[in-house]
Amino acid sequence: MSAEDAVVQNFLIYKIGSAVVIASAMWLFRKRIKYHTQQRMFAWFMDRVTNRMNRGLYKYKTEVFQYVHKHKRDVNHDLKVLEVGAGTAANLQFLPDNTSLTCLDPNPHFVGYIKSNLKKNDKVVEAEIVTGFAENMPFEDKQFDVVICTLVLCSVKDVDDCLKEIKRVLVKGGIFVSVEHVADKEKSLTWYVQGIANPFHRWLGDGCEARRNTRNNIEKAGFSEVVLENIRPKSLPFWIRPCIMGYARK
Ligand SMILES: C[S@@+](CC[C@H](N)C(=O)[O-])C[C@H]1O[C@@H](n2cnc3c(N)ncnc32)[C@H](O)[C@@H]1O
Repeated sequence: MSAEDAVVQNFLIYKIGSAVVIASAMWLFRKRIKYHTQQRMFAWFMDRVTNRMNRGLYKYKTEVFQYVHKHKRDVNHDLKVLEVGAGTAANLQFLPDNTSLTCLDPNPHFVGYIKSNLKKNDKVVEAEIVTGFAENMPFEDKQFDVVICTLVLCSVKDVDDCLKEIKRVLVKGGIFVSVEHVADKEKSLTWYVQGIANPFHRWLGDGCEARRNTRNNIEKAGFSEVVLENIRPKSLPFWIRPCIMGYARK
């Protein structure tokens, strides 16, 4: 081997070796890296976009939260509400007066944003913030009159496990109110785009899947009544415009 070849070989070994060492370290510390960078950035990003999204979804959220207001009138007492995947506590303005709210989210970087939004709200009289997953909720059975979930079932690891948990923590007759973006009609243009966008979407949206048939999961979850409407909010990017909203009663 010539001296020149040896230099090139050493250089390549050094480069490949460094890349392998860096990649292995990133893999070993992937959970910490995710915790300190991706999740923190996602919470910051959601704080920046939530008000804007709420303005775009105002008409739909106002409509779907009417089910919560009606439920309060039906049961004739102040409500205990659980918001699953609360994010920055995006739905405070839509809640009825005198609500006791529990916010559940696995991302601990949302806590500061939730606290600051709670300070500005006039609907919630009592609040608890819990870090945890919807698939395995740290609550007793039959604790809540209402469970809310907006744009969350797209991000959870197991939709059916979440729905099982939601049913478990609801009182009998309690309602699960949701707005979710879902898969478009199979083989439509948007459905293909949803498939292509998925890897990027998952990465940018902290695990958010662009193409899930969440309606099927809710309909098969064993609720006594399911009322879901298909909507296409123009304010959302076109590939996540196909949405469902409504309620399911335990
Ligand atoms: C797109 S954000 C929506 C936040 C908020 N609900 C809203 O409407 O603005 C998705 C939220 O789901 C949360 N999430 C992801 N996986 C979850 C899980 N397994 N259980 C509960 N929440 C989860 C994320 O941390 C994030 O706050």
